[in-house]
Amino acid sequence: MIDQRLLPSEFQVVAYDDYREVAAAIRDMVVRGAPAIGAAAAFGMALAARQSSATSMDDLRVDLELAADVLGEARPTAVNLVWALKRIMRTAASTAGDVDDLRAAVLLEAQEIADEDVQINKRMAGYGAALIEDGDTVIHHCNTGALATVDWGTALGVIRTAHEGGKRVHVLVDETRPRLQGARLTAWELERYGIPYEIITDNAAGYFLRSGQVGKVFFGADRVAANGDVANKIGTYMLALAANDNDVPAYSVVPTSTIDLSLAHGGLIPIEERDGAEVLDLQKSGRAIAPEGAKARNPAFDVTPNRLVSAIITENGVVYPPFVDNLVKVVEG
Ligand code: MRU
Repeated sequence: MIDQRLLPSEFQVVAYDDYREVAAAIRDMVVRGAPAIGAAAAFGMALAARQSSATSMDDLRVDLELAADVLGEARPTAVNLVWALKRIMRTAASTAGDVDDLRAAVLLEAQEIADEDVQINKRMAGYGAALIEDGDTVIHHCNTGALATVDWGTALGVIRTAHEGGKRVHVLVDETRPRLQGARLTAWELERYGIPYEIITDNAAGYFLRSGQVGKVFFGADRVAANGDVANKIGTYMLALAANDNDVPAYSVVPTSTIDLSLAHGGLIPIEERDGAEVLDLQKSGRAIAPEGAKARNPAFDVTPNRLVSAIITENGVVYPPFVDNLVKVVEG
């Protein structure tokens, strides 16, 4: 996987042969973004199957359960992680034959999860791009592009498809404190795709929305509850509030694997709180930004209530309110 912590200054591909290393890579955000985490965990399970010395199907399934527990604890908010692990465990339960057949089946399923993700992103991108008008300026939050998925992207995939379809799109990129996924990763991707953009501080979004300079807001999601409440990168809620106050549509772009119908509302979504050092470690002119001994709070995600979400764009179509009725239709077909 690409070590996303080093971008944009360094492009380094790292390889692992132990599933515990994959779990650590997810936790430390070598790889991040909900669909990318899901695919990484699935390949972690393929490694666990290969690492296991089990000689019976039952013993191999026990080793896989243990690996799923370790991988599943790496990060709590993005439901794609447990979604992918459950899918691998279903494959493990239904595969017949010997341990080598099971190892092969787990690897095949991981590859299918990865391959499907690219197709799903392209389908979502098609639905979303139809909502973008030629000449639109949009605000994008966090990184939701090829880096956050297996390829193409969710919200950024929409922008990319609109651009490639010949629409002129200008992107205001939220820098996305504290880890700067926007300034570091989204800007890096937009440079490569030749899409015009400018980085803005997160707290400038309200200014641009209120002064009528923005046509649409796009973001991804790490988990969507059954009622359409959207958990996404910290700052999404404030962005959606400002968009709503200025009658600018706010779209969440998500594969159906990010929709968790088992949770009735967003208050039930577990929110990861990361080390305060991520907030404090930033330096200005080589000097710490806060006094020695300062403490910080660092929730990595927030929940945007469904009333602030104009539509949820999935690979099965664009879902409009009432989400509580309409999400189930795209998830269950
Ligand atoms: O903490 P991160 O960088 O993993 O958070 C990522 C996001 O919040 C993305 O917006 C989300 O995963 C959807 S993008 C495919």
